[in-house]
Amino acid sequence: MTESGREIEIEVLRYHPEQDKEPRFQTYRVPFLHDTSVLQGLQYIKDQLDGTLTFRWSCRMAICGSCGKMVNGEPKLSCHTFLRDYYPGKLRVEPLSHFPIVRDLAVDQTDFLEKLEKIKPYIIRDEEKPVSEGVYRQSPKELARYQQFSHCINCLLCYAACPQYGLDSDFQGPGIMALLHRYNSDSRDQGTAERMPIVNAEDGVWSCTLVGYCSEVCPKHVDPAAAVNRNKVNSTMDYFLRFLSPRGADS
Ligand code: FES
Repeated sequence: MTESGREIEIEVLRYHPEQDKEPRFQTYRVPFLHDTSVLQGLQYIKDQLDGTLTFRWSCRMAICGSCGKMVNGEPKLSCHTFLRDYYPGKLRVEPLSHFPIVRDLAVDQTDFLEKLEKIKPYIIRDEEKPVSEGVYRQSPKELARYQQFSHCINCLLCYAACPQYGLDSDFQGPGIMALLHRYNSDSRDQGTAERMPIVNAEDGVWSCTLVGYCSEVCPKHVDPAAAVNRNKVNSTMDYFLRFLSPRGADS
């Protein structure tokens, strides 16, 4: 018992693929205080009740993006979600939807990481200027064009929320479209022509069915649905510019 005397039941999905035929739920009783997070609840289970429970976390302050879980069916950062909000009911914690389970609550992120690498999430220059010439300057207005999208922490909650990604994992998905838009909108970047084929492809931006749940669950208010919509506009312009100009949209 804690000083507050409260305990909550947490049902956790357990699955060790090398020994279990299928996932199952295991229930634990966890004491908590007003500020005990779901992540701390899982840590209590691992430290005090069952050391075999597997899950990811790192920063404990909604920065690293590694602690995403489904909490009562909703994608959440477990370090930023509190047990008090579910009491006196019980809590069900599952791995993020739409990703293969590696073990218990840890999912395989390979698909997202491969997609991320392909969009080249860094500033591309036709020609780098020497360091001696100083930094690439940018006005507040230019910064404002992409700043919101630069807050993405790759937590994958938007993928767990996206029904289209759940149906077809070839879809690039909301996080990739937000990050791609972040770099394409940066006045210092010259890599738009390299990224547009990914936006325009069949599994690119046009596969989005405009559900918008990705933006609701985003813990950083990145609003990936807005990035998708802007990418649709950019994709349309890219198409017409390529159609009209023999030298292509970036000429
Ligand atoms: Fe880093 Fe939750 S532990 S975001």
